[in-house]
Amino acid sequence: AGPGLIDRFGRSATDLRISLTDKCNLRCTYCMPAEGLDWLNKEQVLTDTEIVRLVDIAVNHLGVRELRLTGGEPLVRAGLADIIAGVRNNHPDLPVSLTTNGLGLDKKARILKDAGLTRINVSMDSLHPETFAQLTRRPFLDRVLKGIEEAHRMGLGLIKINAVLMRGINDQEASGLLEWAVSHGYELRFIEQMPLDADHGWTRQNMISAAEIHALLEQDFVLTADPRRRDGAPAERWEVRRRSAPGIVVGTVGIIASVTEPFCADCRRTRITAEGKVRSCLFSHDETDLRDLLRSGAGDEAVADRWREAMWAKPRAHGMDHTGLGAEDFVQPDRTMSAIGG
Ligand code: GTP
Ligand code: 5AD
Ligand code: SF4
Repeated sequence: AGPGLIDRFGRSATDLRISLTDKCNLRCTYCMPAEGLDWLNKEQVLTDTEIVRLVDIAVNHLGVRELRLTGGEPLVRAGLADIIAGVRNNHPDLPVSLTTNGLGLDKKARILKDAGLTRINVSMDSLHPETFAQLTRRPFLDRVLKGIEEAHRMGLGLIKINAVLMRGINDQEASGLLEWAVSHGYELRFIEQMPLDADHGWTRQNMISAAEIHALLEQDFVLTADPRRRDGAPAERWEVRRRSAPGIVVGTVGIIASVTEPFCADCRRTRITAEGKVRSCLFSHDETDLRDLLRSGAGDEAVADRWREAMWAKPRAHGMDHTGLGAEDFVQPDRTMSAIGG
């Protein structure tokens, strides 16, 4: 099998994220410009077969143990269920998850579950239709909620909800979102906003930090550290009790503090973009193409070797932490979050 995806700082990437498309049917302000991007054309994007082959190489040669499919919005990719079924057929025990905005999930949850999908994370930042429409620039809250409910009904594992709080927009909703999530049995995670927006409008002052999120939640809830191991996960988890009934644990909340408490030292992620490039880090400035190598007829070992080289060069950290974002040494990557996959 050969060595895994190790880097100069002793980390080993066992967690693969593949972006299936750069397209999305929402336009979240922190992720994509209003007008969209110059979409990739069909030849540029990895085929279903190429994706399944890359997963085979990652699992059989490189020690990858977990797969997450992302976008853009992965549900807009026609072959999604076929990709999942193809991966599942070759790797019966591989956890395969999906990060989605939930649009269309009501119709697809069953097919995805049957194809072998393990679980899903859904991005949902507001329970108010106007606020949702302001944040995503699309009026689709009802459809997203319907998608989440249907996935839950189909038993698509523990559903995690991702919420990015934006100052003056949805920051007053922290408690409301948590109440909604615990009462439905979902695990909510709040994410500190990162500078991966199209307009380069991110500022440290406008970002709602983990400490602020805590303070907002503590008005209505009591949070105590979750005793389960974090295990390289981005989210720090807390057990949730309502202030009104502090004896009963009603759920779990996660906080993903990429900016104020970066977890790069424990990072286990390797990423493939929709056009088949390895990104060793969310904030990488260079990428390594695997698509042309695949298309040139290269064998698995040659592809694995190039992937190893790309990951060996993974940066130590994203430079947002010690110096503060916006400091001279931090340069925002050209790609927006939508073209990386979160
Ligand atoms: P779980 O396995 O369910 O914990 O998935 P996840 O949290 O890794 O995946 P998801 O796609 O739901 O990502 C949620 C958020 O975590 C993303 O929006 C990012 O903000 C953050 N995140 C995920 N991976 C990384 C990473 O490698 N680095 C940093 N800094 N943040 C990440
Ligand atoms: N900062 C933090 N999280 C982001 N996401 C998208 N853009 C950003 C950003 N700039 C989140 C979405 C989604 C996940 C894949 O990434 O909310 O849940
Ligand atoms: Fe890993 Fe880069 Fe994310 Fe840090 S910023 S956790 S190194 S992907």
